[in-house]
Amino acid sequence: MHLNIVCIPGDGIGPEIVTQAKAVLDRAAALYGHEITYKDILMGGASIDVHGVPLTQEAIADAKAADAVLMGSIGGDTTRSPWYKLPPEKRPEAGLLGIRKALNLFANLRPAILYEELADACPLRGEVRRGGFDMMIMRELTGGLYFGERKSYQENGLRHAVDTLIYNEAEIRRIAVKGFEIARKRKKKVTSVDKANVLDSSRLWRAVVEEVAADYPDVTLEHMLVDNCAMQLVKDPAQFDVILTENMFGDILSDEASMVTGSIGMLASASLNDTKFGLYEPSHGSAPDIAGQDIANPIATILSASMMLRYSFDLDAEADAIDRAVKEVLKEGWRTADIMSPGCRQTGCREMGRLIAEHITQK
Ligand code: IPM
Ligand code: MG
Repeated sequence: MHLNIVCIPGDGIGPEIVTQAKAVLDRAAALYGHEITYKDILMGGASIDVHGVPLTQEAIADAKAADAVLMGSIGGDTTRSPWYKLPPEKRPEAGLLGIRKALNLFANLRPAILYEELADACPLRGEVRRGGFDMMIMRELTGGLYFGERKSYQENGLRHAVDTLIYNEAEIRRIAVKGFEIARKRKKKVTSVDKANVLDSSRLWRAVVEEVAADYPDVTLEHMLVDNCAMQLVKDPAQFDVILTENMFGDILSDEASMVTGSIGMLASASLNDTKFGLYEPSHGSAPDIAGQDIANPIATILSASMMLRYSFDLDAEADAIDRAVKEVLKEGWRTADIMSPGCRQTGCREMGRLIAEHITQK
């Protein structure tokens, strides 16, 4: 098969981790007889430095022409970087929001898994994490507060600011359908998270999710208020299978869920539209403080590349081979600094990528 992939190395540790994910993809492709064409595009701070804007029309066109996009991370130190002196629509994050909207990537999948090998990194007490957990946060990605109308103005001598949380039923329905489809392939449970005791947008969310649920009688649906969900994630994470929620709630809860696993450097994500196209990126940020030191953990990006093979190319065997290689390397005791524990062997970004590539085998 020929895979046409656009890469966005981005900022901070992005370029290092994408390089390792490419090495792993190349190894899998060589072993399974595929051919990959890569094209790098600029986004975020890297694009600001060259073009003055975080995302150009040419970059969007390149991404659209690809089968899938593999991204590292974008953004810098918000207190120090000159990028954050620019108006909000010219900052690195605007590039990420812009590409999600331009490619209609409305469904964001963020798995939060407690890896057996890394259970000690989980900050939860032994009895809470016993048995592990494996949930999928499904975050709506192109609507809600992040894309609603916003403005800042003065009135009666006071500064005001408004953001708008708006959804229409079609936007809710399409992410709900994806959520139920994915639950069907997992433990068949959807927890829809909202704030229906206060917000109209949440009441619409709840009503539409219930309509969609009627088509999935084999999947159990429960509703949970977002504040309670934040609590339940640390109290009893094993209760969750698929968490289905709107943009901002998903942004916040997915960070919480990833912290609970104790290994944010391990967590991948996929952003999908209605087709097989997707943008794949680690759940973590650009970590500018450790950029260029060869100490970043490339595993989340490598696992994002595996998700790409699975969701955009239906190459399940190849994706399984990458996931297996990651587990093998961890089992052998190799760790990057962020997941290091006593008795393990510490290694850097490049070496971790090389080890994983080397452990890929055909089953
Ligand atoms: C994320 C990030 C982005 C978001 C930022 C960088 C705009 O926090 O992917 O979760 O809020 O969506
Ligand atoms: Mg976030």
